[in-house]
Amino acid sequence: MSAGTAGFLAAGGLGAFVLPGCETVPPPGATNPARNPLFLPPTMAPVGAALEARSSTIDFGSGTGLAHAYNGTVPGPTLVANRGDVVSVPFTNSLTAPSSVHWHGLVVPTAADGQPHEAVAAGGTYTYDFTLAQRASLNFYHPHPHLMTAEQVNLGLAGGILVRDAEEAALGLPDRWREVPLVIRDALFDGAGNLTYKPKSSGFVGTEALVNGTRAAKHGVDNALYRFRVVQGSNARVFRLALGDGAPFTVIGNDGGLLPTPVQVSQIDLGPGERLDLLLDLRGFLLGDRVMLRCVDAGWDVLELEVTRQVTDSASPPQGPLSTVEALGNPVRTRTFSFDGMGRINGQEFSMDRIDFQVPFGEIERWRFTTGGNAPHPVHTHGASFQVEARTGGRAAVMPWEAGWKDTVLLQDGETVDVLIRFDGHRGRYLIHCHQLEHEDRGMMQAFEVV
Ligand code: C2O
Ligand code: CU
Ligand code: CU
Repeated sequence: MSAGTAGFLAAGGLGAFVLPGCETVPPPGATNPARNPLFLPPTMAPVGAALEARSSTIDFGSGTGLAHAYNGTVPGPTLVANRGDVVSVPFTNSLTAPSSVHWHGLVVPTAADGQPHEAVAAGGTYTYDFTLAQRASLNFYHPHPHLMTAEQVNLGLAGGILVRDAEEAALGLPDRWREVPLVIRDALFDGAGNLTYKPKSSGFVGTEALVNGTRAAKHGVDNALYRFRVVQGSNARVFRLALGDGAPFTVIGNDGGLLPTPVQVSQIDLGPGERLDLLLDLRGFLLGDRVMLRCVDAGWDVLELEVTRQVTDSASPPQGPLSTVEALGNPVRTRTFSFDGMGRINGQEFSMDRIDFQVPFGEIERWRFTTGGNAPHPVHTHGASFQVEARTGGRAAVMPWEAGWKDTVLLQDGETVDVLIRFDGHRGRYLIHCHQLEHEDRGMMQAFEVV
């Protein structure tokens, strides 16, 4: 039995019937009639799984409409894998345009990285083969075709990938229905209730929050310790996440897995492509209590949690070290990347026919990200994670949730961000780009070769 269910007892008439020591069913839904039950994507082991991208009719909670979907759901199935798994995922592109599956955050060979160069033609198929060699973390799969990433992601193609390992398992963190995947983004719907992509020149701006494809989402919970696995799946919007009552979150992980130690914060800026592993301690809550996850920047109510079952939960947030993270240091060289305008790096637009630079395998480098404006630029690397070393200008600090391993870091106007990076997974072609997806499609991307 996991720590999350030790001493688990049902109380009150609202709860599901629970026998101590037995598998229990998730709590009933939340009750607020003005909001819609949070969709939980089906989970799928990537070994033996298959993905298909296709235009589908989706239930967004308040009605159905068209979207692009993996396997008929928005988000697509949550892939749940173990470190060491040998993965082979056949992909069928049933869209009318080229597409691909990029495994954002996974270090995989070039042939399996879903880059624009390896896009799959409309009606085509391709099998992604790789070994999951990395530590426990939450990753993000999405299309990456040349010039069309922004539109396809915006229309619904995205999903989570959970990687498990022994180090994480030993922590006894909340699991099963108390570990909730949340793909958070903004969205725009047309009059018929279809997801619609209408970018402005500065990028896509949605008019509402969409959590796991649900508009105005609510979710029923136990008064217990919860773990939320957050993917920021917007094209361009930065979410400033906070709880309605101002209570802090305990952040235990980010893009590349567990942080060295937990940190408490009450507001988190999360850019497109970034992930968070959050603990929320609801043990002091009573039946019927509600708490709102908000974006205080947009002034949006993102997800309402309501305690619909009273339990006794003996789990508590871990206090001590979570994970041993090797600190990178002594870079052998520094490379500078200037994110210019709305579609250039170091003055150049991306070209499918150009390799912009080469990186020696296994060497630690400092990569310096600067910008002349038009932020946010959430800078993302394929092929390796990095450690954020310093931020000068703007917010002028490394944020508490930027410890450990990252693959996407938020660069705001006036900021310079230094990261330390080492490519020691595979040799081959990889990408660095802005994950503001309209910037990416316009050319704020470079291809490089690990040699
Ligand atoms: Cu999530 Cu190259 O992207
Ligand atoms: Cu990526
Ligand atoms: Cu950008």
